[in-house]
Amino acid sequence: MTGIGVIGTGYWGKNHVRTYSELANEGTIDDVKICDINEKRARELGNAFNIDHLTDYKKLIHDPKIDAVSIVTPSLTHYQLAKEFMEAGKDVLVEKPMTMDSGEAEKLVQISRDTGQILMVGHIFRHHPAVKELKHRIEIGEFGTIRLISSNRLSFGAPRKDMGVVYALGIHEVDMFCYLMDREYPDSILATVGYSMQPDIEDTAMITMDFAGTKGYAFESWLMPAYGKQRDLVVVGSEKTAKIDYLKPQELQILDIRIAEEDFDGNTSFLVENEGSYIVPIPYAEPLKEELRHFIHCVENRTIPISDGTIGLRAVRMAEATLESARNWSAVMF
Ligand SMILES: NC(=O)c1ccc[n+]([C@@H]2O[C@H](COP(=O)([O-])OP(=O)(O)OC[C@H]3O[C@@H](n4cnc5c(N)ncnc54)[C@H](O)[C@@H]3O)[C@@H](O)[C@H]2O)c1
Repeated sequence: MTGIGVIGTGYWGKNHVRTYSELANEGTIDDVKICDINEKRARELGNAFNIDHLTDYKKLIHDPKIDAVSIVTPSLTHYQLAKEFMEAGKDVLVEKPMTMDSGEAEKLVQISRDTGQILMVGHIFRHHPAVKELKHRIEIGEFGTIRLISSNRLSFGAPRKDMGVVYALGIHEVDMFCYLMDREYPDSILATVGYSMQPDIEDTAMITMDFAGTKGYAFESWLMPAYGKQRDLVVVGSEKTAKIDYLKPQELQILDIRIAEEDFDGNTSFLVENEGSYIVPIPYAEPLKEELRHFIHCVENRTIPISDGTIGLRAVRMAEATLESARNWSAVMF
């Protein structure tokens, strides 16, 4: 059984703490300890879940009861923390983006190889139940040839000050589109971004990925009040279309619709065949809990996570390419 530390208990870290605490209560892990340089935050959360809290992560590095850690601190700190924990013999789940710089991400992948420690990155949507079902159905050919992917990740809220929408939101899409297309990278990325509130922190991005002619379009913004919190994914295949509302992990919508070709006297025409739509019900599971269970499984069985360091590294490279494309107003080829 496993002891887990959580470093960083802010907006997202407190979800790791709550989830690990549930996993400890159900006996999946033995021990949870939390650490935040903000003592009040760590204490209040520690008291709420009745777990030990610390302010100095180095104490967790030297704690023999801690086998693995979740690093949920600001992304600029990920490299140093992940490095120190792996070098001290602890397995690491580091939140996305893995780092803010691909050179640092490469070094973490190398440290993981050299030390043999598990390095997982929090690409949570790979653990989303509806995405898992969709991926399986794509693999068995239910959708035919994928012709288009699109995703909207829109909301209206206070912008982050540490990174823009490309690293905060678009990092999900660059990974997800490659995952669904079964590709390491797209052939190219072409993007535009908008800076309307802060000079170096983009608040809107339109990212186009090309996969041998199949286009993936991702629209990311925290400057869009018109749709509430919108988080969706549409995959259009030659046979069927799938739609996922990421906020509903238990639902995959299938649209049994296609454009067929008809040949008449040597002339080809197109017609739409629409056989309706239905919802595939999926047993409810919280994506974060699935992700943390997967991490614990990898730690206990020494297996490679489905979002390991190389996946995190590729996503950072694609985020860099997105910003480079936007800066130069031209596509970046892979
Ligand atoms: N997977 C997701 O969907 C998702 C969602 C939101 C955020 N995130 C990621 O989670 C990370 C944290 O984001 P957030 O929004 O929670 O940030 P946040 O600023 O709300 O919280 C970060 C916390 O880390 C603490 N911290 C900083 N340095 C520390 C150190 N050396 N030791 C201990 N604690 C330290 C801060 O005091 C703060 O409480 C980021 O990398 C972000 O991209 C992922």
